[in-house]
Amino acid sequence: MAAKIRTLTGITTSGTPHLGNYVGAIRPAIAESRRDDVESFYFLADYHALVKCEDPARVARSRLEIAATWLALGLDTERAFFYRQSDIPEIPELTWLLTCVTAKGLLNRAHAYKAAVDRNVAENEDADAGITAGLFMYPVLMAADILVFNAHRVPVGRDQIQHIEMARDIGQRFNHLYGDAFRRVTKSASDPFVLPEVVIEENVATLPGLDGRKMSKSYDNTIPLWLPAPQLKKALLGIVTDSRAPGEPKDTEGSNLFAIYQAFANADESAAMREAFANGIGWGEAKQRLFERIDAELAEPRERYDALMARPDEIEDRLEAGARKARERSAPFLAALRESVGLSSRVIAAKGNAPKSKTVAAAPQWKRYREKDSRFYFKLESADGAVLLQSSGYEQPEDSGKAIAALMDLASRPDTGSATDWTLQGQVTVQGATEDIRPALAMLAAIEAEKRAAKSSGS
Ligand code: TRP
Repeated sequence: MAAKIRTLTGITTSGTPHLGNYVGAIRPAIAESRRDDVESFYFLADYHALVKCEDPARVARSRLEIAATWLALGLDTERAFFYRQSDIPEIPELTWLLTCVTAKGLLNRAHAYKAAVDRNVAENEDADAGITAGLFMYPVLMAADILVFNAHRVPVGRDQIQHIEMARDIGQRFNHLYGDAFRRVTKSASDPFVLPEVVIEENVATLPGLDGRKMSKSYDNTIPLWLPAPQLKKALLGIVTDSRAPGEPKDTEGSNLFAIYQAFANADESAAMREAFANGIGWGEAKQRLFERIDAELAEPRERYDALMARPDEIEDRLEAGARKARERSAPFLAALRESVGLSSRVIAAKGNAPKSKTVAAAPQWKRYREKDSRFYFKLESADGAVLLQSSGYEQPEDSGKAIAALMDLASRPDTGSATDWTLQGQVTVQGATEDIRPALAMLAAIEAEKRAAKSSGS
């Protein structure tokens, strides 16, 4: 099977979803997530929300609304990774590792930061007046979002292009500095980070708002996605049109009403509306048809949305499950990255100048033993002694050693290793949870690699 393309994008949780978000971002993303050759990562960028919004109630509400929106619109969370940024501790951890390789000058050039400085200067203020370090660091946090899952493609709006370029710069710098160490730790041939490509969807309509400019919170011309039907209708009546009377032919070119209709209609429906325009449909009737078309698409998801918003616990459960699934990737990856920069979770005598048998932090371990049946067994225990993997009995001790080696080999590949792989075709039973086993194996593989590196450097 060909490796899948990983697509990733974040949604800042500081507002209420509107029709423009739906047409321009959410609908195409959900369609993309159904492709078999794609692995998609969609997440609520709630740490980013704190940069823009200091109103806790609003951030909390927005997280729920946006999560419920994606779920109600049919995002299949079995396929896609759907999680909250703040549920993935590896993201802020990676942010720091990246911060330490990021040139401050690079961040000085970020558009959003520069614009804030320019405003201050224009107003004769101190250049950094009122600017938080959060705004300044925003691109590094975003780089961590992307790099932590080694995304290949990042679909975003044009205003985000520079951020993706910065993520590439920062990733490349890290690859350059720590690539060799990472390859030693993981026994692989790859760089730590994939350098992400920005994807600007040219064929996705940007939806005009009520006044004909792009629908955007900053123009105050939006139509919220989940208005109840009567209010949706009322909002659509507010679309600005020209003053032509019923019976007068109307232009579809430049008509925002027509553009919004087209974003929801299929080709036949659009052709019929075009004809109605030519035949002088009245604006009131055109708006009624627009309402009916949009409502036909949103009525069912709206019911699911309302049901979800009435049961926030269910939303929470789905997000937690999403975070567990995402952390199966991010936790072992961060263990390898920490190791690569010299922050092992276990101190191994470098050049023999540390006391031999003293481990600082508890680590998982292999236990090999012989039972009364005189067979040879092993188990993998977590740092706190829970059994994660249990072997069956082997006649020969070498065979139990080989099985351990096979498991370590699986662990050293960052993307692989699953409950079915770990059984080694029935030799081993899996007793722990996947999210405990994967990092335990990764840590043991990292420790092994470090031991070998210490040996070959002659200590
Ligand atoms: N900054 C993005 C925006 O405002 C949101 C975002 C946060 C994001 N992290 C991301 C987008 C990672 C893509 C990838 O739209």
